[in-house]
Parts: sequence; C-alpha cells; structure tokens
Amino acid sequence: MNTPIKYEIVKRLFAAKDKPISGQQLADELQISRTAVWKYMKQLEEEGYEFEATRKKGYLLQKSPDTLDPSKIKALLETERFGREIIYEESLTSTQTIAHQLAQEGALDGTLVICEEQTEGRGRLMREWKSQKGKGIWMSIIMRPDVAPYQAPQFTLVAAVALTYAIFDVTGVSPAIKWPNDLLINGMKCTGILTEMQADPDRVNAIIMGIGINVNHQQEDFGEEIASIATSLRISLGKEIDRAALVAKILYYMEAFSKQYVAEGFEKIKTLWEKNSCTIGNRIKATTLRETFIGKAVGITKDGVLQLLLDDGTIKEIISADIEL
Ligand code: BTN
Repeated sequence: MNTPIKYEIVKRLFAAKDKPISGQQLADELQISRTAVWKYMKQLEEEGYEFEATRKKGYLLQKSPDTLDPSKIKALLETERFGREIIYEESLTSTQTIAHQLAQEGALDGTLVICEEQTEGRGRLMREWKSQKGKGIWMSIIMRPDVAPYQAPQFTLVAAVALTYAIFDVTGVSPAIKWPNDLLINGMKCTGILTEMQADPDRVNAIIMGIGINVNHQQEDFGEEIASIATSLRISLGKEIDRAALVAKILYYMEAFSKQYVAEGFEKIKTLWEKNSCTIGNRIKATTLRETFIGKAVGITKDGVLQLLLDDGTIKEIISADIEL
C-alpha cells in the first residue's frame, strides 16, 4: 500500500478535528478512487484508528493508536526538515548509538531515530537510562547546524527550551529546567537530554540530540532505584498522552529554536532558559568530578556555564556537575 497517501489521509483526519471529512473529498484531494479511500480506511482501522463513519457526512476520527509509527508522526509534522526522514523500530539498543552510525553514513539534517523500547539506553556520564516498551519517547535527532564545536553544549539548552514549549503545548504542564539537562515536574525528573557530537577541530559535522521522556508511565512502572526521583507526564496530568503528537511538537520547536539560535545567537535562548529554570536563584549543591560546591546559582554564561555565588562572595563557574536543589 502506498504509504504517502496513508500519511495524507491521517493528516487530513487530524486537521479536520471534530468535523467529518467525506470519502469523496479525500478521493478528490488525493486523486484516488472512492474504493481506494475505503481500503485505506480499513487498513487504518486494523492499525487501531477508530472512526465514526456516516454515509452522508463521512469520516470523523474518534481515536488513534498510541504508536510512534512514522505515518502518524508525519501526519502531524509542521516542520521543513526535522522528522522528514524517520527511522523507527520496535526495539533498538540505543537510538543514540544508531543515530551516530547513520550520521557517519551521511544522514540528512533533521533525521529522527525513534523506537518503542531501548535495551541499552544511556544517559549522561554513561549512566543507564531505563526505556520501557511503549511508555515513553526515546528518540535521537541528527542535526547538522553550521556551528563550531565549542557551541555544541548550548544545544542542550536549546533542546531544554524546545521541550518545555512542546510539553506545555500538548499537555498544559510546565516543566522546570534543572541545569544542565533535566526537566522536572514537582521536583521529579520526567525528561533527560543527551547532547553528543561528531566534529573536526573547527566544525561540527553532526550533533546527536538524544531525548528521553517518561510519558505514559504509571508509578509502578518505575523500578525501585528511580521510583523516588522519577515521574511521568501521565502521572502529573492524570491521563494518557498521545506520544506521536508530542514528538511532532518537539520536532517543530527543536527546528524553530535551533534555527533561531544559529541565526541570532544564544541571547534569546538564554533568556527563555532562565525564565523556565528552577536552578537559577536557588541555593544548590554542585558535585563535579573532583569537588563539591555549595552556593546560590545566579545565572548561566553565554556558553551555558552555570555561575555559582559561593559563601565567600566569589563566583565559581561550573561546566559539568550533578546538581542537588
Ligand atoms: C540524562 O538525563 O542523563 C540523559 C538521558 C537521555 C536518554 C535518551 S533516550 C533516547 C536517547 N538514546 C539513549 O540511549 N539516550 C538518549
């Protein structure tokens, strides 16, 4: 079956919102027969879509399956490049590892690698990242911005801002950004960001932006070791979230904010980041590889480095650390 037409049908069904769309209209717009439309609708029903179908008015979308199938993500996309190429599998070791390989083989800017389950998901500092099947969003975006290697860490902050906007648009929940790469709801982690790059000394070849979001987990889905520090959007909202719709929004904001960053610099992103941060203004403990510092987080530099006002009145710049609020 010709999948681009299936994307087009799903796209129109979503766009029509609560208005039915007739089989004839679909047939005319897509230049296919009514019988072909009917066959596509049957296939969509087999995939878990539910419609109210009336002879006179047409098809009204009632329910869509909570899958990350590219046909659904593509139907909801509002981007120019991000997500136009999607690699989707039920199970992968790590989307980050696969994205690195694809980037080396020349994958296009905006290519998305996404799966239902990761068997070797990883977080910062090579920590394990739990990625249960069908519960979350485990994705990596291959980005090819024209920037120097020293700018790559700023993309973590670009991603944090993009994610807060996307999550708010889809769920109405406003997560707080904890420097450098966590999103929290009620003080508990729901999202992690892992920014890695492939670069020559003076030029970035690819940024591999790994994003892990706990979306439809219930409390019992978190293992004992993270149950007290992790949460999900569903726990916070009290209802299930359509993961594909959230992925499409993330791609939209990632494309928009990274474009803005490359064109205009870091200043605007920095302001948005600080506005949504729960780190700035608070007394925190920062544990680096060698030392621990306690002080008030007063801001971030233009390079995304955290500035800590220590009790002796000096400012300590923190490049990488674990933060306790
Ligand atoms: C962190 O908080 O330490 C970052 C977590 C990043 C997890 C995501 S899930 C998708 C991508 N693939 C991985 O193996 N890791 C990132």
